[in-house]
Amino acid sequence: MTDPPPIVSVNELKDHVNRTVELRGWLTQKRSSGKIAFLQIRDGLGVVQAVSSRSDLSESEWQQIQEVTQESVLRVVGTVKEDTRAPSGYEIQATELSILAKAQEFPITPKEHGVAFLMQHRHLWLRSSKQRAVLRVRSEVCQAIRDFYYERDFVLIDSPILTPAACEGTSTLFETDYFGDRAFLTQSGQLYLEPAAAAFGRVYCFGPTFRAEKSKTRRHLTEFWMVEPEVAFMEFPALCDLAEDFVSFLVERVLAKCRPELETLERDLGPLENVEAPFPRIRYEEAVAILAEKGLRVEWGEDFGSAEETALADHFSKPVLVTHYPIETKAFYMEPSADVPGTALAVDLLAPEGYGEILGGSQRIHDYDLLRSRIEEHDLELEAFEWYLDVRRYGTFPHSGFGMGIERFVAWMTGVRHLRETIPYPRMLYRIYP
Ligand code: 4AD
Ligand code: MG
Repeated sequence: MTDPPPIVSVNELKDHVNRTVELRGWLTQKRSSGKIAFLQIRDGLGVVQAVSSRSDLSESEWQQIQEVTQESVLRVVGTVKEDTRAPSGYEIQATELSILAKAQEFPITPKEHGVAFLMQHRHLWLRSSKQRAVLRVRSEVCQAIRDFYYERDFVLIDSPILTPAACEGTSTLFETDYFGDRAFLTQSGQLYLEPAAAAFGRVYCFGPTFRAEKSKTRRHLTEFWMVEPEVAFMEFPALCDLAEDFVSFLVERVLAKCRPELETLERDLGPLENVEAPFPRIRYEEAVAILAEKGLRVEWGEDFGSAEETALADHFSKPVLVTHYPIETKAFYMEPSADVPGTALAVDLLAPEGYGEILGGSQRIHDYDLLRSRIEEHDLELEAFEWYLDVRRYGTFPHSGFGMGIERFVAWMTGVRHLRETIPYPRMLYRIYP
């Protein structure tokens, strides 16, 4: 008795050329003449064409192929042949074919669909080639993030999701009842990283964060993933270096590992290949002057909107680090600059091509009295921050950190305009289904 053929996935076909294999997957497309059928089969690891001749199959198998629907699950046994024209490089000459599960009429067809329709069917839309490409890039970026910090001896500190304190202002808090007390979904893990920096020196967190963003823009989700490093004794210039190293590391990794995905997405690689450190560093004040030359007026103390951010990064056709923002535009915990009065040691990294702010950070206030008075000035409940003030009570130290929203980064890499396609199940002002 001969052994049954090995069960393989599309990415393993290269090891089985001219041999018989079994493969399972979903039918994405079908073409058939009276004698030959071409079936595109997707198994998650790739797409391969199975070619079946009427003469090689039984009459009932051939009949089944004629009736099989998109997204039905197929089992194919056949010989692997090299085919340079095929996307996977191989095709399968089928000798056996069975339908393991017939799909009902699939709502998403190769024709155009509106975004609202696709979002309502997000769970099925994930199967489409572009969505798969974007989410594969996201997965690679997440791995690269962990590698970057691991290689630099950072300790992962998982910060809590439920918190008693606001980190990034009180206007975007999701509030929930916590056994009779008030709790919020976290806006950032930063406050919890700072005490951990005193325990481990270099720490980072990477997890979901929440903002009750009431505006409907392409750059805001209500649930997004943020990676945040925090480093003891790191001062502002070194923080800017870390941000620059981090972002260039990630871009390089995407270019090295995600070529097929970027090709599927028809991403123009030129602007990404141009992302080489060092990035220009300008102060808020200089940014305002550059914007004025372009006819974009910003009053001192106003934050930049997306038009301003786009104009600035495009001016340099590179990511740009904007530093020394007016204190009043930024969060309560930021260290004031000793050199430029009225400004904070804050940095935003602005990406070109309209992707805007993808990363923001600062040196932190480490003086107890100053931090306490800033909490009060911002009308934050002192009680909820007592533990945070402890970092300044028990051996205080200068420290800095930043946060990067990974959907913003992935949107930039993939060239996708709207953040909703960079996370498997987006949460937005008007969307919590599916
Ligand atoms: O600038 P933000 O608000 O900074 C912080 O939360 C700091 N506590 C981070 C730190 O210093 N540890 O947010 C950081 C990044 C932004 O640059 C952006 O990339 C992303 O988080 N972000 C969002 N992404 C998607 N949807 C939203 N609503 C976002 N808000 C912020
Ligand atoms: Mg910010």
